[in-house]
Amino acid sequence: MLATDPSALLKLLADTTRLRILALVDREELSVGELSRALGLAQSRVSNHLRLLREGDLLAERHAGPSTFLRRNAPKENGEGPKLASRLWQAVQKELETLPEHGADLVRLANVLAERRDRDGNFFDRVAGEWDKRGGAFTTGQARQRAAVHLIPKEYTVADLGCGTGYFGSALLGQCSRLIAVDLSEGMLEEAKRRLEPAARGTVLEFRSGSLDALPFEDGELDGVVAGLVLHHLPELDGPLAEMRRVLRPGGTAVVVELASHGEDWMRVELGDRHLGLAPKDVVAAFERAGLEEVVLDPLEDRYHPHNPAGKSAELDLFIVRGRVPAN
Ligand SMILES: C[S@@+](CC[C@H](N)C(=O)[O-])C[C@H]1O[C@@H](n2cnc3c(N)ncnc32)[C@H](O)[C@@H]1O
Repeated sequence: MLATDPSALLKLLADTTRLRILALVDREELSVGELSRALGLAQSRVSNHLRLLREGDLLAERHAGPSTFLRRNAPKENGEGPKLASRLWQAVQKELETLPEHGADLVRLANVLAERRDRDGNFFDRVAGEWDKRGGAFTTGQARQRAAVHLIPKEYTVADLGCGTGYFGSALLGQCSRLIAVDLSEGMLEEAKRRLEPAARGTVLEFRSGSLDALPFEDGELDGVVAGLVLHHLPELDGPLAEMRRVLRPGGTAVVVELASHGEDWMRVELGDRHLGLAPKDVVAAFERAGLEEVVLDPLEDRYHPHNPAGKSAELDLFIVRGRVPAN
């Protein structure tokens, strides 16, 4: 009997256990045993309902070895009867999640599926090749960067050199014990204060006026320095890198974020740029001349989007260079 007769269909649906069954197999194809466990009911209490749903054509079956797998069967929309059945189902389907038993059914379903994965130990082997497509959210980079920043030892003292409005420093709030923001410009330091102080999350903040040529720190005072989009404002690289090395303790880390070479000439005037970006290899070479070790070049997926005076946005490549002061 097809459940195309609306009154027969309504009779079929007028039972909580059958609605719970339909809600579960609508989400996931399940064997009879799995379905019973997800419902928390003995198979003997489920089988009669399954028979009625099968007869009403609301369940589709697939046989695999000794197991029968069940899925909800969508009423087909050909003819008046099935069309009404389909509409009725849609109305009921919307309400399934309001069944009082649904929450507990979902928890048990999650356990059943976890058991299935444990039994079928090669699940991850089978899906490895397409995993990145399934887990697309992890391709944006945000999660990785946020996770990586948690690896900074909490007791670190870090300086944001040429802090500007505090853009890079803000990523360190709550991740290190002290953050010292340094800039030549008092106006920029004020902006950085405005951004960082309300969001400090336990990090002690300081703001120092100073230049990358003569950093306002004692020798070896810092665990880490970051200089974001600053080096292309400077006449040369060797003085500032020697200063970074001087103020870092043995084993301390310098991180530079820079614009790759580009042709946006207007940036000299509008953004005060002295160089139109820098060649990554030149920055790497300057790190090495400063005696920094473990120098790593890391091109970024992130792009820089400055707006020119006509309101048009450029799209510029960014890169990171990292190096460490040799340990004693
Ligand atoms: C493009 S902004 C970058 C600011 C911030 N780090 C960021 O990424 O948003 C450059 C900053 O470097 C500062 N600056 C330029 N030359 C400097 C120098 N020799 N010493 C210290 N700061 C400098 C400027 O005042 C400005 O705030």
